[in-house]
Amino acid sequence: MNLDPFIALIQAGEVVAFPTETVYGLGADAWNPTAINKIFQLKGRPSDNPLIVHIASEKEIFNFAKTLPPWVAPLIEHFWPGPLSLVLEKKPHVLDAITAGLNTVAIRMPAHPLALEFISQTGPLVAPSANLSGKPSPTRAEHVTSDFGPDFPVIDGEATKVGLESTVLDVSNPTPAILRPGSISRKEIEDVLDQSVEESFFHVSSTPRSPGQKYSHYKPEAQVRWWQNGETPDSPKSMYLLQEGTLSSPNVVNYHNDLYRMARELYDRFRQADHEGYNEVVIQLPAETNHPMYSALFNRISRAVNG
Ligand code: TXA
Ligand code: MG
Repeated sequence: MNLDPFIALIQAGEVVAFPTETVYGLGADAWNPTAINKIFQLKGRPSDNPLIVHIASEKEIFNFAKTLPPWVAPLIEHFWPGPLSLVLEKKPHVLDAITAGLNTVAIRMPAHPLALEFISQTGPLVAPSANLSGKPSPTRAEHVTSDFGPDFPVIDGEATKVGLESTVLDVSNPTPAILRPGSISRKEIEDVLDQSVEESFFHVSSTPRSPGQKYSHYKPEAQVRWWQNGETPDSPKSMYLLQEGTLSSPNVVNYHNDLYRMARELYDRFRQADHEGYNEVVIQLPAETNHPMYSALFNRISRAVNG
């Protein structure tokens, strides 16, 4: 694919949507405050919600982070490029528009060949998910177009592999904490660090450590609710995303505990439910909670149920 026109747009201070392995991102030059401002305008995003810096080479870390504590390096070695965003103490010159005035900055290196090629030519990009605020994150180029119109510049990298946003891990102090669960699980991080990791995403607090966690996201127009044990999936106006059962009908999907597949499809199903006029989406997760994707799915679905 010829990325030149998209690279030229970034250099001209414009915003371009590009694929990552998690969801599509809305990219702008991390050193251009006017371009970054366009992201907030386009998405209708509250300005107190900070952005993740996407890099294509490890040495870029040091243009944003004040220090990289030695104990953090194994995470980079092990998980990058990949769906792990690291919150580090920031350098003073990192733009306030990125960090929402916090003294930390989130950085990740995405594992998508097009993203890496693009960013290696544009330089670091800030990129929130490429959806209108309040809509589910986009996992296909068509989702971006549906939110921002047919003329919006999108690099089409087909359906994303993971389907849920990256794990956000705060490593800015000696007690690492997951601020947003993703496909890289607490257990996997603990195994690499050989120390325990906190989870601070369910705490309801007026000043959450990850500002994004206080906003309702991920919600379709249809009501989202949990499946009740013993109910029958027989309402034609409901979409059922279940783990077991043999009933086969267009509005019932059985994941058979394949939570990777469920994660990959969740936001697409939300959008499909609205597109096809369902009143509700009814979701079942397995009773067994050790699956690495469980926490991220539970978090996103809970927020859609309660949001
Ligand atoms: O997978 C992803 O992370 C996608 C793709 C495009 O890379 N991006 C994404 O960005 O999900 P966004 O803006 O939708 O979510 C960023 C999350 C928000 O919850 C935000 O509050 C948190 O990261 N965040 C960013 N910088 C932070 C910081 N310095 N401290 C704490 N949380 C931060
Ligand atoms: Mg988002």
